[in-house]
Amino acid sequence: MRRIVTRKKGGLEVLKIEEVRDLLPTSGEVRIAVKAAGINFADVMIRMGSYPNPPVYPCTVGYEVSGIIDKVSSDVDSSWLGKEVVAITKFNGQAEQVNVPIDQVYEKPPNMSFEQGAAFLVNYITAYQILIAMGGLQSNESVLIHNVGGGVGLAALEIAKHIGAKTFGTASGHKHAFLTKQGLDHAIDYTKQNWKEEVMKLTGGRGLDFVMDPIGGKNLKLSFLSLSSTGRVALFGLSSAAVPGIRGKFEKLKMLIQTPVFHAIQLLVSNKGIFGVNTSRLWHEKKKINHWVEALVNGQKEGWINPYVDRIFTFDQIAEAHQYIESRKNIGKVVLVP
Ligand SMILES: NC(=O)c1ccc[n+]([C@@H]2O[C@H](COP(=O)([O-])OP(=O)(O)OC[C@H]3O[C@@H](n4cnc5c(N)ncnc54)[C@H](OP(=O)(O)O)[C@@H]3O)[C@@H](O)[C@H]2O)c1
Repeated sequence: MRRIVTRKKGGLEVLKIEEVRDLLPTSGEVRIAVKAAGINFADVMIRMGSYPNPPVYPCTVGYEVSGIIDKVSSDVDSSWLGKEVVAITKFNGQAEQVNVPIDQVYEKPPNMSFEQGAAFLVNYITAYQILIAMGGLQSNESVLIHNVGGGVGLAALEIAKHIGAKTFGTASGHKHAFLTKQGLDHAIDYTKQNWKEEVMKLTGGRGLDFVMDPIGGKNLKLSFLSLSSTGRVALFGLSSAAVPGIRGKFEKLKMLIQTPVFHAIQLLVSNKGIFGVNTSRLWHEKKKINHWVEALVNGQKEGWINPYVDRIFTFDQIAEAHQYIESRKNIGKVVLVP
């Protein structure tokens, strides 16, 4: 079988295709013949060497797949054989085959394509954890979704719209027409406008009830400052450090220095909250995640969840796929097919 390998940290040239032996599932696992694999911003950061706690290089990355179960271990119910599924994988997803523990596998909703299936779990679980499970976003509240045109951003927009909240989002200008069509109330081009000033103007100086921040560093400070009383910020990424090469090291250091430190008493007197989300460190909370996935699958059946796939690249085009995301062209999810 073929798999994509990130040989070491570096530029696009470190991405290779490798032919290896077919896999055999071990205890508690099934083998999935992959039809589509999600590509996430984290994969680009792992390649650049700017991801905290990356896997050991050379590695096959990929946190999510859709496909068909073609082998089960002896202790897994054989009725899973032949089922169309979506699954969360702790790396190794960007391959023709992947072994996954059965409790990370879900039946693919019948009216969801394989490509959409690979655009579903990571983005929507992250957005659900932030907005609903931890953030408690309410219908009478406002939310700013940074980089709302990305995979997590669009998932969050759908959930926030379903809740009935007023939505603000930052994104590159060429994404605004699409985002407005998706129901975003206020699109802000952070590459040209001072987003915080714009938010303050749009909210009549009051500020926001909620900010989703995947950028970190100085941006996190501004996100916190743009909150109204009872507002909260979720930090769920550090993309300000996602720069390749030597400059990347400098940007990482700058991000760390500029990241604000919050004192509990400062939060107490200001009626504000800040919390972090890292779904890749939540493997021990499978029951909780299963509950969220159930709610999300119901949302898909009801029609308010509809994973948006922007571009599909073949495994051989992996460098182009990275380049596409790195140059901020993607609107929604980028998916790989074998
Ligand atoms: N904590 C978690 O559990 C978790 C889970 C999933 C994702 N994340 C984080 O959420 C963020 C979005 O992930 P995603 O997979 O949804 O991303 P994505 O679909 O690949 O979207 C990336 C978008 O982010 C914007 N961007 C911001 N900084 C960038 C940079 N330095 N280089 C390139 N693009 C940049 C660009 O859009 P515009 O410039 O147009 O806004 C780009 O199109 C990332 O920071 C990721 O690490 C965290």
